[in-house]
Amino acid sequence: MGVIETAGLTKRYPRVTALDSLDVSVGEGVTGLVGANGAGKSTLIKILLGLVPATEGTARVLDLDVATDGGRIRSLVGYMPEHDCLPADVSASDLVVHLGQMSGLPYAASRERAADVLRHVGLAEERYRPIGGYSTGMKQRVKLAQALVHHPHLVFLDEPTNGLDPAARDDMLSLVRKIGSEFGIAVLVTSHLLGELERISDHVVVLDSGRLLQSSATTDFMHATGTLVVEVDGRHDADRLLGQALVAAGLRASPNGRLVEVEVADETTYDVVRDLTADLGLGLVRMQERHHRIEDVFREGGAGSVQPV
Ligand SMILES: Nc1ncnc2c1ncn2[C@@H]1O[C@H](COP(=O)(O)OP(=O)(O)OP(=O)(O)O)[C@@H](O)[C@H]1O
Ligand SMILES: [Mg+2]
Repeated sequence: MGVIETAGLTKRYPRVTALDSLDVSVGEGVTGLVGANGAGKSTLIKILLGLVPATEGTARVLDLDVATDGGRIRSLVGYMPEHDCLPADVSASDLVVHLGQMSGLPYAASRERAADVLRHVGLAEERYRPIGGYSTGMKQRVKLAQALVHHPHLVFLDEPTNGLDPAARDDMLSLVRKIGSEFGIAVLVTSHLLGELERISDHVVVLDSGRLLQSSATTDFMHATGTLVVEVDGRHDADRLLGQALVAAGLRASPNGRLVEVEVADETTYDVVRDLTADLGLGLVRMQERHHRIEDVFREGGAGSVQPV
């Protein structure tokens, strides 16, 4: 059983088809849901929570039917909504305790859990202050904490990095990764930036105008390119020197700044690079095979509306 299964899932609004016959299956781990603005990411999440009815098709979450078991699904799933929805005059601590109780936890257990999750997301003493005075980064953390308070099996995180500066964005992405890997909670996380999600997702689902463009393991996107990137030092023209030696040894190689790019001919290529570097008296700083990034794959695939970082 997948964590999420949809079949022919369609959502039509009067002016637009938000989801167009979507067949998608999501398993354990972290799944990135990527698409440009308006691709249908938030609509999908709301349907999966049983908050918005589908026009056609079916969806199951944790083997429950979204059309009939919405309440049960929402008790098992955590949801971090995309837009700001926090009351200004309540403290993070009070809010998260309250939402824990709404999800069925007794008061004492909810207080304990709220303290735990607020600590996990990095809110310390400020959690006793009213949310109205929080920065965007702190608000995003409160939204994440309330999604986790009731021990969910699965969380939907809708654009958790929205509005964050680069450092806060990195912190948030690490937190999301941790929820999946350390806490063992299945995660569906959305973003319109492919590059963000390739870092933290086991699986990536790409939506384009409500249609499924691609659903694959992240590693499938990142297949090796057959190019070895070698960094050498020791003298100012180290890259040129090694490049020439590699070409003389019958390899295709080109110096490129401090790096030499070498086409991998067979498994001996690594040894040839290492030995020639040593023969020339240079230092081998780094040697690694270059990988595609997800965004390259989509650029090649012509998915014009998906925005790379
Ligand atoms: N309640 C609604 N009524 C009418 N149209 C809607 C409604 N909700 C969403 N839509 C439309 O459905 C499409 C998908 O919207 P959705 O919010 O799911 O996209 P999204 O991928 O989450 O985009 P974003 O990255 O901007 O959050 C859009 O064209 C949007 O205008
Ligand atoms: Mg959205």
